[in-house]
This record gives sequence, structure tokens and C-alpha cells, in this order.
Amino acid sequence: MSVHSEIKKITTETLRKMKFDKEKITMLTAYDFTTAKMVDAGGIDAILVGDSASNLMAGYETTLPITLDQMIYHAQCVIRGVDRALVVVDLPFGSYQSNPEKALESAVRIMKESEAHAIKLEGGKEVEKSIKKIVNAGIPVMGHLGLTPQSIYQFGTYKVRAKEDEEAEKLMSDAKLLEDLGCFALVLEKIPAALAKKVSESISIPTIGIGAGPDCDGQVLVYHDMVGMNKDFTPKFLRRYLDLYTEITGAVSQYVKDVKRADFPNQEESY
Ligand code: KIV
Repeated sequence: MSVHSEIKKITTETLRKMKFDKEKITMLTAYDFTTAKMVDAGGIDAILVGDSASNLMAGYETTLPITLDQMIYHAQCVIRGVDRALVVVDLPFGSYQSNPEKALESAVRIMKESEAHAIKLEGGKEVEKSIKKIVNAGIPVMGHLGLTPQSIYQFGTYKVRAKEDEEAEKLMSDAKLLEDLGCFALVLEKIPAALAKKVSESISIPTIGIGAGPDCDGQVLVYHDMVGMNKDFTPKFLRRYLDLYTEITGAVSQYVKDVKRADFPNQEESY
């Protein structure tokens, strides 16, 4: 028997059970094979191939420019590095909002071409028909409410969402709708902790928070932020576990010095 067949893979059902058992769910982003391998080996429950790849891999200011083909490429790289975690892939902006048929086609392409396990999309009532169509085709869907970065030009800022009653009420009813439509989990991004708690207690599917306080059923962070590669991104909700920007720039400048002064390679590093 191979080692791989002994690994108990995380499924959407596992996440549902974790909520039931009150065991917190962990999720991080990854966009490439090497990172996915390390994140999976660290014991993460779920990996998000987020459209934040648009910012972190391609250097765009927003998540809007990344294409479906590019998301599929990132998902293919991640899947090859993962033995255990559930891999969820973002449907990028423009690939699902216009009509349910297009949404299903986009989701099918991701599942077929990358062999990922689920898709995520942003929004509530506005994308109801698209979610229904994708779920009916047997594809697991993760919802995403609160700060939905694909709508940044409508919001105008990346500030905390749903602080006012009207938006909070819409978020509560969208969360219920996503549960009723058959979503298996729901990301809550940058909303007041009290609201996230209320949502988490009112639905049976797990909530995964980012900037949504401690009472969500799980937490997700962007890998590059969490390991401190993204030096200028310092929101209140972020906990940095490493300072890789300083580590890596330090290592690079040491390498530059060593080569310039002909210290590298030395005798032992030569054939
Ligand atoms: O694309 C992404 O990284 C995300 C997370 C912020 C949840 O959607």
C-alpha cells in the first residue's frame, strides 16, 4: 500500500463534521506547487487558489484582471502539490456573473482541467441562479460575503463591510440563501465580529472568516501575508508568523556580496 493511500483526505463532508464537532477549520491560499506542498505538509485543512493570485502572482492592483485560464493554471500547479487538503478555486471576475450557463461552464472547466475539489464565488442573491446551476451539476460551491474584492469599484474602499443595519441584514439573509442553495461553506471577509458570530450560529454550514473575528467556524489568511512576504500589507486582522520579506531580501543581498567578492563559490562548492 502506498503512503498516499493512507492519508485521510479532507472533503466538504469533513468540514461539515468539523463545524458540528466544534473543531476549527484552517485554510490558507496557495497558487503554486511548492507552496501548496509546504502548506499541505503543515496540516492545513483547506487550500484556496484565490483570485488574490491577481495581486500576488501577477502584480495587479485588484483581483479583477486574472482570467479563467490563469486560475486553471494556478489550480493545476497547486493540485499537484497536495495530498490531504481540500482544494477550492476562485471563479474569477467575469466568469460567472453574466449568466448561469456561463457560470456552470466556468466551474466545469476548473473541475475538469485542474482536478480541484470545489469552487468559490462572491455574492449572494445577485448570483443565486449561477450557484443553483453549479450545485445542481454536482460541483461543491463555497460562498463569499462581506468584503467581496471583485466588487471593489462598487464599494470604493477595502474598509469593513456591513457595519450598518441594512447591509448587515442583507448579509444575514444572503448567508441563509447560500445555505439553502446548497453551498458547503461560506467565507466571511472583513465584517464586524458580532455579525460573523450571529451568521455562524444561524446557519448549519461552516463559516470561514478573514477579518471577521474569532467566532467563525474556521479562519483563512492569504499565505503571502501570513508569512510576511507582503511587506506593505498590514491590516489589523493579520497575524504574521514570519518576516520573510526581510529574510529573503537579506539572503539575496548576502548572496550578491558573496559573489561580488568572489567568496561564492569556494573550493568545497566547486568540482
Ligand atoms: O482570493 C482570496 O485570497 C480570497 C481570500 C481573501 C478569502 O478570496
